[in-house]
Amino acid sequence: MRFKLFNVREDEKAFAYNWGESNGHEIVCTDEDLTLDNIETLKTFDAVSTQQLFKFDDGIYEALKNVGIKQIAGRAAGFDMFNLSEASKHGIKITNIPSYSPNAIAEFAVCRALELIRNINKINKKVNNQDFTWNESVIAKELRNMTVLIIGVGRIGKVSAQLFSGFGAKVIGYDPYDQSLDSITYVQSLNEALSKADIVTLHVPANEETTHLINEETIRFMKNGAHLVNTSRGAIVSTNDLLHALNIGKIHSAALDVYEHEFEYFSYDYTDKKIEDAVLRELINREDVLISPHIAFYTNIAVKNMVEIALDSALNIITQGYSENEVILNEV
Ligand code: NAI
Repeated sequence: MRFKLFNVREDEKAFAYNWGESNGHEIVCTDEDLTLDNIETLKTFDAVSTQQLFKFDDGIYEALKNVGIKQIAGRAAGFDMFNLSEASKHGIKITNIPSYSPNAIAEFAVCRALELIRNINKINKKVNNQDFTWNESVIAKELRNMTVLIIGVGRIGKVSAQLFSGFGAKVIGYDPYDQSLDSITYVQSLNEALSKADIVTLHVPANEETTHLINEETIRFMKNGAHLVNTSRGAIVSTNDLLHALNIGKIHSAALDVYEHEFEYFSYDYTDKKIEDAVLRELINREDVLISPHIAFYTNIAVKNMVEIALDSALNIITQGYSENEVILNEV
């Protein structure tokens, strides 16, 4: 069979071609978006995979049906770029990758937490200025002596809990919907949980309930000098309230892999270009903030899984009419 992959990055190609070779299928990769203009190129293909971040034209589904395509295999967890009802109307099945490597994100959260408690940002800046002194501004804490609060103990939160426990930290969890990890203590109220934690790490989905979960009011319950790590979604933290808490020393430092208004910037190269967003500029320049471009997922294992799971799902849909990764309209 012939598979065409759109929006392919260089780091995905070898995994895609290897999958094709191992499974006896032909793989064609392009960095183009799938659009109404190039859909005719699919006439000689059996399956399609994309990694587009913005919404598809609603006409795409009927056009796919007209060239004999039955599915789109997205190579990411998110599926908000698809119109599921239009897709279903034209018999196009959509698949996503619900979980490609929780360890990738959990390890990044632990890495950033360690950087915060070791004051790595400050040490790097001092060393860059050839200041090799030791003083109180860079004295560190030890994880084994700290309490880590995992907010959202799902796939990624569970791995984070295990990794932090491995360092000897006391781990507590806040998750009203899943309390299945036996090795930690769950606290039933968010504010009480916040009041116990030296490090707070966020692993909840973005929805109405979790938008600005960390805000001026909830920050008040946090311990003085606590550390915050956000590898979940930007909307979970009110950035303005966080900046205020950092300014008054309520929060010691924060690591943000995601940012409320990241979409214009993250994954693009802004070298030599002006960043118009003053808040993002401030986050980049602060010594007490570590900011990264939504990169926690980005490991060799995660990319391999994203490519292979997408292609497996596409194959299952065209050979069996079913994939466990199909995004079902009425379950969304
Ligand atoms: P998951 O669905 O497995 O776990 C989320 C957990 O949050 C669930 O246990 C759920 O019960 C809990 N939860 C829901 N509402 C809550 C609330 N109001 N308070 C406390 N807990 C609540 O999700 P998964 O796969 O672990 O992903 C977690 C987050 O990580 C998501 O926001 C996802 O978008 C983000 N993510 C970030 C990546 C990155 O590169 N930075 C990559 C992949 C995922």
